[in-house]
Amino acid sequence: MGEGVLTTGFRRRDGELVCEDVSLTSIAAAVGTPTYVYSAGAIRAAYARLSAALADLPVHIHYAMKANSNLALLSVIRECGAGVDVVSAGELHRARAAGFGGRDIVFAGVGKTRLDLEYALDVGVQCVNVESEEELEVLSSVAIARGCLAPVSLRINPGVVNVTAGHAYIATGEEGTKFGIPIARGLAAAQRAASLPGIELVGLDMHIGSQIAEVAAFADAQQRLRALLDAVRIAGITTVRAIDVGGGFPVAYHDDEPTADLDAFAEVLRDTFGDAGVELIVEPGRYLVAEAGVLLTEVLYRKDSGNKHFMIVDAGMNDLLRPSHYEAHHAIEPVLPSASPLRTVDVVGPVCESGDFLALDRPIADVGAGTLMAVRDAGAYGYVMSSNYNSRTRPAEVLVDGDRWGIVTVRETLDDLVRNERSIPEWRGT
Ligand code: LLP
Repeated sequence: MGEGVLTTGFRRRDGELVCEDVSLTSIAAAVGTPTYVYSAGAIRAAYARLSAALADLPVHIHYAMKANSNLALLSVIRECGAGVDVVSAGELHRARAAGFGGRDIVFAGVGKTRLDLEYALDVGVQCVNVESEEELEVLSSVAIARGCLAPVSLRINPGVVNVTAGHAYIATGEEGTKFGIPIARGLAAAQRAASLPGIELVGLDMHIGSQIAEVAAFADAQQRLRALLDAVRIAGITTVRAIDVGGGFPVAYHDDEPTADLDAFAEVLRDTFGDAGVELIVEPGRYLVAEAGVLLTEVLYRKDSGNKHFMIVDAGMNDLLRPSHYEAHHAIEPVLPSASPLRTVDVVGPVCESGDFLALDRPIADVGAGTLMAVRDAGAYGYVMSSNYNSRTRPAEVLVDGDRWGIVTVRETLDDLVRNERSIPEWRGT
C-alpha cells in the first residue's frame, strides 16, 4: 500500500481515487461498470483494529458473512484468523468453500430448516444459535437421528430499546421483533435445552442490531445476558462455556458520524464478562468490510424535471439496495478530479421504480455522461443484496491487494439470466 496506513483502502493519487495502489479508472476500463471494488488491505486493517482492541480478552471474532460473502473476501478474513457466523446452508457452503472448518463456524438464523440443521451437524459447527424453543425440539430430533450431540447456543432477545443509529429495519434486540428468545423465557429455554436428548447447551448469544453507536446500549444488553448466565448456573446448568455478544459495530457513512469506540466496547465486555469464566464471541459484519468497498458506476445521462436535476448512472437499486431500502447515505464522488461546480442532484439508476436512487438532493460535481463515479462504503450489504430485478445482470466484483487486482466475481451474462428457466415447462402429472 502507499503512504501511511489506509483506513478504507481508498485515497486520491494525483487527484484520481485509487484503491490501494491500483487505478479505479483502469479497473473500470478493463471490467466495465457497475463493479464493486474491495481493498484487501482495508479489511485486514479493520480486523487488526478490532483484534487489538479485544486483545486481552478471550474473544474470538466470527465474521458475519451476510455482509459480504464473496469467497475471496472470506479467504482474506480467514487468513486474518477469524471464524464466521453463517445464517443459511448457502453461507455454510460458501464458508467451507473458502476453507473454514466446522469449528470455525457458528450457525445463526431465525428460520433454519431441518435440512439446514442436518448440514450444520454434518459439518460439525462450533454451535447452532437456536432462536426458538420449537427449533430446539427439531434440532434435538435431528441430532438423535444422526446419533450425535448438537452444541447449542440460545439466541436471547435482551429486550433493549431500539438502539441502532440506522433504520428500524436493522434493529433486532427489542421486544416484539422476530429474533431470539425473549429474555424472560431464557431460563426456561435453557432448562428445556439441558433436558433434551441430543442437545448440549454450550452458549448464550445475542445480537441487538446494526450500527450501534452507543456503547451504553451494548452494556445494557450484555448486563442482561450476564444476569441470565448467572441464573442458568444457579439453576444447576454448568455447561455454558461461550457467550456471543453479536455484531453491530458502527461505520461512519457520513464524514461527521462517530466511528466505533472499540476500546469502550472492550471495557464493557471486560466489566461484564471478565470474571464469568467463558469464551467470548463477537460477530461483526459491516465493520470489517463496509469501508473497504466502493461501487463503480458510470454516468449515462443528465436531465432536469420540474425543479429537480437528475444524474442517471448505470448502477441501480438492484445493484445497491441500501439507499432505496433504508434511506442509507453513501458518499458519491467522481473518480477523476473534476473542476465542475457542485450541483444538487438525485443520483438515480436505470430501474423502473421511483425508489431507484443512490442519493437524493446531493451536491455533486456537475459531471456529464461517461464520468466514472465511486459510491463509497459499499463493501457491506452491497453485492450480497443485489438482484436481477428488471432482468439486470448483477455486477462484477474485484479485489485489490497492494498493486495487484483480480476479478473475484465475473459479471453475469444475459444467458445467466435465463439459465435456470424453461420456456417449456418440465410438465409433471398426467
Ligand atoms: N450477527 C447477527 C445475528 C446478525 O443478524 C447480523 C446482522 C450481524 C451479526 C452483523 O451485524 P453488523 O456487524 O454488520 O452490524 N442489510 C442491513 C444490515 C442488516 C444486518 C442484519 N444482521 C444494512 O444494509 O444496513
